[in-house]
Amino acid sequence: MQAVLDYLKANEPRFIRELCDYVRFPSVSAQSHHRPDTEAAARWLVDHCESIGLKASLCKTAGNPVVIARTARAGSSTKPRFLVYGHYDVQPAEPLELWKTPPFEPRIEGRSLFARGASDNKGQHLAHLNAVEAYLKTGTELPCELTFVVEGEEEVGSKNLAPFLRKNRTDLRCDAIVISDTGIPDLKHPALTYALRGIVALEVKLAGPSRDLHSGIYGGTVDNPAMALCRLLAQLRDKNGRITVPGLYDDVAPLSAYERKQLARIPFDAAAYRRSLGVPKLFGERGFTPQEQRAARPTLEINGLTSGYQGEGSKTIIPAWASAKLTFRLVPNQSPEHIRKLVEKHLKRLCPPTVRLEIEGGHGGEPYLVSPTSPLAQAGLRALKAAFGHEPVLLREGGSIPIVTDFKKVLGADALMLGLALPDDNAHSPNEKFSLDAFAKGMRMSALLWQELAGC
Ligand code: BES
Ligand code: MN
Repeated sequence: MQAVLDYLKANEPRFIRELCDYVRFPSVSAQSHHRPDTEAAARWLVDHCESIGLKASLCKTAGNPVVIARTARAGSSTKPRFLVYGHYDVQPAEPLELWKTPPFEPRIEGRSLFARGASDNKGQHLAHLNAVEAYLKTGTELPCELTFVVEGEEEVGSKNLAPFLRKNRTDLRCDAIVISDTGIPDLKHPALTYALRGIVALEVKLAGPSRDLHSGIYGGTVDNPAMALCRLLAQLRDKNGRITVPGLYDDVAPLSAYERKQLARIPFDAAAYRRSLGVPKLFGERGFTPQEQRAARPTLEINGLTSGYQGEGSKTIIPAWASAKLTFRLVPNQSPEHIRKLVEKHLKRLCPPTVRLEIEGGHGGEPYLVSPTSPLAQAGLRALKAAFGHEPVLLREGGSIPIVTDFKKVLGADALMLGLALPDDNAHSPNEKFSLDAFAKGMRMSALLWQELAGC
């Protein structure tokens, strides 16, 4: 085992160079013009996996390909089998002018590597690949069989991965899924995440006149779709931060006194948090702490809002349409299909007769909650403690990884979520970065994890 850890240390500069190569691909799944770049990232990953001694393939789906890479299988092996999940797609980098250096030209400053996708999620799954490489290249026997499943559509809802899992369920059967795609409060508090929020995404469009109209000639006689949309959206959340969609809270699992106590133990400074985000005052559902609001309560956000003229100067028009991209975050036991129906019904009821409502269904994902005391979780906690040198904490996270519930349903396997992202990594924001210390500790954690998992 020492040989593995020594190998990781000795090869760190090369691992960093390889991460730089990986993040140079603008694999933005939301933007179709990046489709070739996204496929190139997948091909780079296949080549990389092959070069470290894994058997790798690029698997076609209806969307972006899935990369499968596995350790060589002895026919009669009775070793436990684990999947490692990650995603090579990234969020759009816009607004580009807010990046200190271009998003796909990696820059190292101190112990941080800046680039879109460095933290979410290329650096995190590369840490696991580096650990496997260390085993294979030092001739150290792995106590388990590993299959990497790295997809290219996580950031757009993973809709082609569930069918892929169903088709390959025999081949992919395993004892558990290991995922590093969540966060830690800081390097002194490594974390096991045992819950994620679910999601419902949709686009709401209000269509008015058949074309943009002169706002002087026609203004006063027809409704303005942008105005109507503002009014409609403003009604979706009240001043206490509660979503107004009837029935939305019906299935929400209440927080137990025990969980509230545990959440309150996570290091959190509300004033520092507020300052770090640059807001004059925090806002959230009344009656809950910020930790509770973002981990265990449903929310609604407008992710994008578009209408009318957005160019330089002014243009006096009544826009023909207005649209908004919305996402609801869900908690156990809310169902995305049911919530989507409730939302659509409510929007139809609120829509005034002066405009036409069009709802485009986006993606969805179920909330996830798993026991933090299982033998699996205990093994994860031991590996975290040994690699980081600090006692780990248990987290519920507000983000979503839509495929985790499909892993459970299709493969019957639980997810062990051991993330490496820091709160100031700027995931989904300009100037995303990954901590090279988290990278190094993550590789060690992965190397130690296979020993812990095989023994449990
Ligand atoms: N890595 C995140 C998920 C995450 C972030 C979980 C922080 C916990 C803490 C992932 O890449 C992500 O951003 N997922 C999307 C999914 C959506 C597009 C379906 C999300 O949560 O917005
Ligand atoms: Mn993400």
